[in-house]
Amino acid sequence: MQNKTVSSMICGIGAAVPERILTNADLAKMVDTTDQWIHERTGMKVRHIVDDKVQNSDLSAQAAKKALDDAQMTAEEIDTIIVATVTGDVRFPATACYVQEKIGAVNAAAFDISAACSGFLFGLRIADAFIASGKSKNVLIIGCEILSRIVDWKDRATCVLFGDAAGAAIVGPANNDGRGVLGTFIKTDGRLTQLLWAPGGGTRFPAEVALSENMNSIKMKGQEVFKAAVTAMGDAAVHILEETGITPDEIDLLIPHQANIRIINATARRLKMPMEKVFVNVQDYGNTSAASIPLALTEARQKGILKDGDICVMVAFGGGFTWASAAVRF
Ligand code: ACO
Repeated sequence: MQNKTVSSMICGIGAAVPERILTNADLAKMVDTTDQWIHERTGMKVRHIVDDKVQNSDLSAQAAKKALDDAQMTAEEIDTIIVATVTGDVRFPATACYVQEKIGAVNAAAFDISAACSGFLFGLRIADAFIASGKSKNVLIIGCEILSRIVDWKDRATCVLFGDAAGAAIVGPANNDGRGVLGTFIKTDGRLTQLLWAPGGGTRFPAEVALSENMNSIKMKGQEVFKAAVTAMGDAAVHILEETGITPDEIDLLIPHQANIRIINATARRLKMPMEKVFVNVQDYGNTSAASIPLALTEARQKGILKDGDICVMVAFGGGFTWASAAVRF
């Protein structure tokens, strides 16, 4: 590994997952699918779905409070809140504003970012840069999605894939003990927006038009997304290793975005990483988009798989297309 100035570190993490579970068997009663098809093609068994009245900011605030407890920090100490989401409470203001109010982070500036499944790692790059430049001290990043509200529950090709969740991290100044954000990488290819999108509700398909043209839900070309995800996640993983000088042997844990077990396996193969060092929980939550990586981080830590001093490489891919990676020593 190369010696490089480390500016920021992750000092607390937490996640929130709705209690209600939707199994593959439940889905087989709703659309023409089977447990076997879903499990073989995606690795998923269950996903969690919020109750009707729960908003993104409710789930986000729950995860944020857990991350604050983990960091032993108060909400007043947070100066920047970034919510990565494509399923915010309302079109505006930002969901981060509602989260600020719910957790009482009265000293923070709060804004959202939209980078789909890569959102948490885009947020980590922003937090690291803000802290490195001295513009921020303690940043709260949340990845949260309530995709169940924008899924077409009649479309078997998409409705089986997604779940609701939130994950959060507190990023603060590094304390020169070797821990910290070792590198971040983000990338976009805006030529491929229409392979994975939720078109309704913006200027192109305002609410009423979207309703009449069935444009309010997620639209996806699954196979094209799959191929792009395999290439881009592998590229992002290789890029972060080159940038930081970390070798695959030095990685203690690889956390790929949990979209599909076959994409996860392909990313591991690209780095020649044994699956024992690759975190997988797609079977329990489905694809939770921006929440996927902070949720996996939290669970890996709770299970003792991610330990103090470990080098963790995280890799994501999502609509846009966007892709991203980061290397962090915990
Ligand atoms: N149950 C049963 N059959 C299904 C289902 C289902 N839920 N969904 C699709 N099928 C059928 C199709 O209709 C098709 O039938 P046909 O051959 O008669 O036309 C057949 O299964 C094969 O369909 P494909 O789309 O070719 O199946 P594939 O093996 O590519 O798997 C999947 C589909 C799981 C969506 C895969 O393409 C995928 O995971 N893509 C990536 C999508 C993704 O992860 N998107 C999330 C956001 S981006 C990200 O997070 C990475």
